[in-house]
Amino acid sequence: MFFAVIVAAGKGERMNVAVPKQYLPLFDKPIIAHTIEAFERSPLIQEIVVVIHPDHEDIFVKRVLKQFCFKKFRKYVFGGDTRQESVYRGLEVLRERKKDFVFIHDGVRPFVTESIIERCAERVQETEAVCCAIPCVDTVKFSEDGNTIEKTLDRKKIWRAQTPQVFRVSLILEAMEKAFQDGFYGTDDSSLVERLGKKVALVLGAENNIKITTPFDFIRAEEILRWEKRIC
Ligand code: CTP
Ligand code: MG
Repeated sequence: MFFAVIVAAGKGERMNVAVPKQYLPLFDKPIIAHTIEAFERSPLIQEIVVVIHPDHEDIFVKRVLKQFCFKKFRKYVFGGDTRQESVYRGLEVLRERKKDFVFIHDGVRPFVTESIIERCAERVQETEAVCCAIPCVDTVKFSEDGNTIEKTLDRKKIWRAQTPQVFRVSLILEAMEKAFQDGFYGTDDSSLVERLGKKVALVLGAENNIKITTPFDFIRAEEILRWEKRIC
């Protein structure tokens, strides 16, 4: 069975607006509602856990839970100071589902598609760990000090990680607990599994599966909705 943990407990500081970015209305609904709906639409997903910031409980209940009729929504829990802690709090809800699989997804990536979810679900059953990513189109430079370039990396070997990242529940719990013990904080979930020496499979994401981080991304998000002809 497949579960989803959607993390939305961040403060959205880089967006620089008063409303936390996950609650900004994108056309007809808050960003987070688009994201939850994307998982609702996939017949593969059984249940959805949403991780929110404790200060956002009112806005989440009023503007999201009460406005939309989510059939697979199981519960919300409060996140922590880092994304990694927030993911862990969501995973704790699934502690009894060790043999099942969990999609970990950013609440501010509303354009995840059914086909991405299908590709991940298919692959994770063979590999236990997948990371959705896209090939890098830019030439990538490595610089130790941010002033001069040490070398140019081979672009063909560079992938930009996205979410969802999908794991067997027992494996990601083990990886997270080891990371916390070691005081390691990664910028994604896959890196914690990589540290265990376990192979993580790459699954093709999509250019449009953006993480809404800055005001510019918000404009892109509106353009993507228009492109998908969801708004005119
Ligand atoms: N997130 C979370 N808990 C945290 C930090 C982040 O659940 N302590 C979530 C965010 O809500 C977001 C996702 O992780 O859905 C990706 O994080 P990011 O884009 O960095 O969001 P924020 O941390 O909210 O933004 P910023 O870093 O600009 O403050
Ligand atoms: Mg952040």
